[in-house]
Amino acid sequence: MLALLQKNQDTFLSTREISQTLDVHPYVVYQAIKELRRWDFKISSEKGKGYRLLETPDFLLPSEIKRNLKTKILGKNILSYHTLGSTNQLGFRLAESGAGEGTLIVADEQTKGRGRMGKSWYSPPRLGLWISLILRPDIPPFKAPGLSICAGLALAQAIGDLTGMDAKIKWPNDCLINDRKVGGILLELSAELDRINFVIAGIGANVNHLPKDFPKKLSSVATSIRAERGKEVSRIKLLASFLQRFESIYLDFKKNGLAPQRRLIKRFSSLLGKKVTVRFGKEKIEGVAEDIDDNGSLVIRTRKGKRTMRAGEVTVV
Ligand code: BTN
Repeated sequence: MLALLQKNQDTFLSTREISQTLDVHPYVVYQAIKELRRWDFKISSEKGKGYRLLETPDFLLPSEIKRNLKTKILGKNILSYHTLGSTNQLGFRLAESGAGEGTLIVADEQTKGRGRMGKSWYSPPRLGLWISLILRPDIPPFKAPGLSICAGLALAQAIGDLTGMDAKIKWPNDCLINDRKVGGILLELSAELDRINFVIAGIGANVNHLPKDFPKKLSSVATSIRAERGKEVSRIKLLASFLQRFESIYLDFKKNGLAPQRRLIKRFSSLLGKKVTVRFGKEKIEGVAEDIDDNGSLVIRTRKGKRTMRAGEVTVV
């Protein structure tokens, strides 16, 4: 129905024409119009003429996402929800029951958005990109952190594509603009010791929040693309650009590992050359962030020598 209205945006289509073309009862047409309006599609209706689509919202419907997409794998299968607990949680369940590589789960709002380290992820409706991808890379589990960096890199690149802004990646999984967090990656694995069954790559990006849209405790650390740019951003376009960027990095990563991406990763990194503290469990390591190695680990030069960190929370001092 939407495709039909989109194809005929310069004319009115009567209920009869629509119901005949789609071979559905006129009541179904009426219901579908009602549903589209509920999703914020602006549809004009005139007596005797029918319906005409005036405006398509920046809504993450599969048909809208697909219209903007040129990828081969990522997003070939899309599930889009108004509200979900967590796209990662659903992604995990779907992957367990066999959903294919590249399946994309999108939610306009998450009520139980998950962040790293058991934290929650603030995911209000309309404002962000809350998505998960099911991936089935044939790599050993210890290489998976590299994927998180790849996703962060793709997000930073996509922000750059759309806005020209200089987004950065903060190891291991944050995406920053002007030193504030604009996005994060949560990778969840189902694996055996030496092989991955599947990965759920969860990506959260604060897109169109105004500063007042953040809860108080986030307002000094988090930002959105719109808040930094001063102008709204199309979530659909951002998603398309992200998937495009991520697909090309991901396909290369599966074949050649992280090494070919290192030059770019280092260029986009917000930490290299800076004095940092890395906390991992009870450990606290201080030094200068020197490199990101082929496994995606952060190399720190400490007073006692080099330390390679697989995971951790970094603060710039
Ligand atoms: C972080 O802590 O920085 C990672 C945040 C990841 C949030 C995204 S939003 C989509 C996906 N579903 C979730 O529940 N979490 C991830």
